[in-house]
Amino acid sequence: MMNNQAGSVLITGASTGIGRACALHLVARGFQVFAGVRSPEHAEQLRLASGGRVTTVMLDVTDAAQIDAAVATIRAQTNGQGLRALVNNAGIAVPGPLEVVPIEAFRRQLEVNTLSPIAVTQAFLPLLRESSRPATIVNMGSISGRFTHPLFGPYSASKFALEACSDALRIELSPWGIRVVCIEPGIIATPIWDKTLASSLQMLADVSQARLAPYQPLIDMVKATVKPGMGIPPERVARVVGQAITCRRPRARYVIGLDAYGQLVLIHLPTWLRDWLVRLALPPFGDLAPSKK
Ligand SMILES: NC(=O)c1ccc[n+]([C@@H]2O[C@H](COP(=O)([O-])OP(=O)(O)OC[C@H]3O[C@@H](n4cnc5c(N)ncnc54)[C@H](OP(=O)(O)O)[C@@H]3O)[C@@H](O)[C@H]2O)c1
Repeated sequence: MMNNQAGSVLITGASTGIGRACALHLVARGFQVFAGVRSPEHAEQLRLASGGRVTTVMLDVTDAAQIDAAVATIRAQTNGQGLRALVNNAGIAVPGPLEVVPIEAFRRQLEVNTLSPIAVTQAFLPLLRESSRPATIVNMGSISGRFTHPLFGPYSASKFALEACSDALRIELSPWGIRVVCIEPGIIATPIWDKTLASSLQMLADVSQARLAPYQPLIDMVKATVKPGMGIPPERVARVVGQAITCRRPRARYVIGLDAYGQLVLIHLPTWLRDWLVRLALPPFGDLAPSKK
């Protein structure tokens, strides 16, 4: 028997990390949780972890047919109650110097992190409108959607754009009482960092050494900084998502983590000062030939 006292929610990208934490947190709070995953193994793991209470849905957010199928499945299982919340969480990070990032990889970054949340939102809006309680769209942004670090240009671009879409949607959907919030975590301890390192090494392996060499000190610094398990637990984010969905007046933005607040301070500095401070934290890079230093 499905638990649906609090209403129904769909979370995309729920196999690991923040999405998984949201699924387990919201099911514990009495929601009927539909969790988007991309493999039967992840589906089984999530079902086991939730004692069978989470309903998994095969959902690659870049696949229009899978989005349509998910709408049909969820419509059939919500008995006309609609959807109380959509958590657009699925995401990837494509790092690298913008000079050498393959454009196809950048395109994929925008496809998964920016365009797909909008495609999923478009498809689920009819169900969100049917909710008897105020419906909420939660977009999993990032503090990187407010502040850009070198080597994270594509990721930041995708999250800045998601912030813009959230701002537009919040006003466009206000006549229907649909609330739109953007979550802005700092560093959270999830597998995204390991995945990012692995995929960037693979991606940069195809770039010629001559083009990569000037950036190598930066790449080495990021590799040394990104450690498995760094950051605060994803459950912290899940609790904020739960609050945003259930409170009477959700905020437009929720910043999570001390590091994220630190970056918020930097955002308000004049650009020249911010750039100078960021450069201070970086090793020398670029053309390091003695005559050009
Ligand atoms: N971790 C952080 O420090 C941090 C900070 C700020 C914001 N965020 C954001 O939080 C969200 C979740 O990330 P996470 O840190 O929890 O990382 P994660 O554990 O790697 O989770 C990412 C999730 O997205 C899914 N995904 C990737 N591509 C997808 C696609 N095409 N269709 C459907 N699902 C897809 C992954 O599924 P598979 O397992 O099938 O690949 C996984 O479930 C992302 O939007 C990320 O940008 C993370």
